[in-house]
Amino acid sequence: MAFNFRILLGLFSLITLGASADLPTLYEYYTEGGINSGLSVDQPQFTLNGKTINIYSGGMHYFRVPPELWQDRLRKLRAAGLNTVETYIAWNIHEPQDGVFDFGDGGTELGAWADLAGFIRMAQEEDLFVIVRPGPYICAEWEFGGFPSWLLKNDGIEVRTNDPTFMGYVQRYFDQLLPILSELQFTKGGPIIMVQVENELGFSWRKDIDYLQGVYDMIVAGGIVELLSSGDGVGSGTSGSLPGLLFQTIDFGSDVTGNFGALEELQPNKPLMAMEFYPGWLDHWSDQHQTRDSNEFRNNYEQILAWPGSANLYMFHGGTNFGFTNGANNGDGDNSNYQPVTTSYDYDAPLTEAGDYSAKYDAIRELTQKYSAAQTYTPDPPQLIERRVYSTIDVNGQLKFEDILRQAPDKIDSDVPLSMEKLPINQNSGQTYGYIVYHREGLNIPANSVLTITGHVRDTVMVLVNGVLLSNALTSSDHLNDFGYWRIENGNITLTTEDLNDATLDLIVENWGRVGFGNFYYQFKGLIDSNQVFLNDEELNSWTIYPLEFKRSWNRNLADWGAVEESQSGPALYKATLTIDDNDITDTFIDMRSWIRGFVIVNGIVLGRYASGLGPQQAMYLPGPWLQKGDNEIIVFEHSLWPGSQIVFSKDSIFETP
Ligand SMILES: *[C@@H]1O[C@H](CO)[C@@H](O)[C@H](O)[C@H]1NC(C)=O
Repeated sequence: MAFNFRILLGLFSLITLGASADLPTLYEYYTEGGINSGLSVDQPQFTLNGKTINIYSGGMHYFRVPPELWQDRLRKLRAAGLNTVETYIAWNIHEPQDGVFDFGDGGTELGAWADLAGFIRMAQEEDLFVIVRPGPYICAEWEFGGFPSWLLKNDGIEVRTNDPTFMGYVQRYFDQLLPILSELQFTKGGPIIMVQVENELGFSWRKDIDYLQGVYDMIVAGGIVELLSSGDGVGSGTSGSLPGLLFQTIDFGSDVTGNFGALEELQPNKPLMAMEFYPGWLDHWSDQHQTRDSNEFRNNYEQILAWPGSANLYMFHGGTNFGFTNGANNGDGDNSNYQPVTTSYDYDAPLTEAGDYSAKYDAIRELTQKYSAAQTYTPDPPQLIERRVYSTIDVNGQLKFEDILRQAPDKIDSDVPLSMEKLPINQNSGQTYGYIVYHREGLNIPANSVLTITGHVRDTVMVLVNGVLLSNALTSSDHLNDFGYWRIENGNITLTTEDLNDATLDLIVENWGRVGFGNFYYQFKGLIDSNQVFLNDEELNSWTIYPLEFKRSWNRNLADWGAVEESQSGPALYKATLTIDDNDITDTFIDMRSWIRGFVIVNGIVLGRYASGLGPQQAMYLPGPWLQKGDNEIIVFEHSLWPGSQIVFSKDSIFETP
């Protein structure tokens, strides 16, 4: 498909090249004669520096694309005829620990993604304007809607409200962020033309307008002078906005007439803009892979452009929830309807997860050139990055669970089980990502003993007695209804058929990502205050707690690898070496269909989760820049059974219906 498409593009650019090459760039056109004003909405069409503009924007999050590939993706975005890139700003990337900030020079765990100013400047170099959405709440199907998990260590904190404790943290973060954004504003010679205040507050369960006003005041006081906006579903009316202060945009995926018509009534004589127009949709584990028809997309997009209206394509390029950064959705506070988002954030977007063009891309390029208010130079679409199917490699080392625990970076003794956020680690910021192990030794477990965990676990628990996994492996979505998974309240499991003395019990709890939309206010992970553990009628206490965060430096220094035992049934790490002898080091996918449940680490970097029995995602995008000539270490943390002995690569993504 991509090949045919490139021929088509080639023809297309031959026809337009002669005309386009002499045209001014966007910046030449919109800043000619000096910059006197930013984006204006004082009339029914946007003007920028006094010239009419329709905003043809594409969403792409700097935190979901390897920084080494930002330029490739931005170039492809500009070559689609789009004039603007939109990104959310993720607070939890920039303040991963309480008071520890990283905007590209802090060397924090996810610091590779922290160079926000670098991303914004690069967009300008690629002839693009920028819309930023600094939240502080962003949803984005991202971990905790962008909030750092350490906020939760403050008892009773009410995030996303005017709670003074919460607002104090927002102010401290904005004191770092806003000076960076301020310098990059259009009227100061930078690319930022619009800043959205908060995000879809109209969908919030609390709709705290004082909080919205507070965030607005901070942004204004922080020196932001470009157009300030709000974005909501049109059904929310003005309930998530500040009429008169914020320019209102709306979010929708179809019914352009209905949505733009309603917005026009809410906000007459102003430009119409969809801040989120959906060309695709996100995937949850255990759901169908979501796609949206490209002809339908094309028709809707053309209606928007012909109106003439403005739109940000959410997403133009979705990218990947690398590491453990995926968020989740949830309708209920008790975790019973918890829906974690997959590692892939492909989104069925016009530019795929691996940066391939699609029929939607083609439609965008054609329609933007047809409807653009200004005749400016549109570059040709860049060459695609070829992907490679590396030879299948054998697993050559295994680290048993007890040997992982022995190397755990921290160990905390506690009478009651503590949640991740309450652990006294990471300079008292607790644990954000990964797994937490509750360990007991010296237990007497009579035959047919029943272990019960009250409430719902957050989010899954594996039960090991004397190192043997007793709970069900997640080989199909049906198992989500078994003990050990988030849907079950007060779950129990029968442990043994014989008496055990001096036994060891491990409860390995995995955090599958904090909710970013819905009921997300109190999201402790691991065993939380309402989770009590009973062995028969006796409550179990006196735990040794091991946080397993799988940070890069720790991953790279794991020791005591043994030979692979094929009889292994239970969580373990498996290691393989991908040796690249030539210079053809490029992108690939890892096909995880012969494994069951866990996550993958490449050269120390956690690539993300896999769950082959759950679907829909079956292969993991591995960016070429993370590979090197010579040996590359691939580690798989597999939860359950001895799966297969190999790492298999694939040219393309693989989605299967569960
Ligand atoms: C275990 O759970 C099952 C199913 O919910 C329930 O019927 C049973 O009474 C529980 N057993 C114990 C010992 O709590």
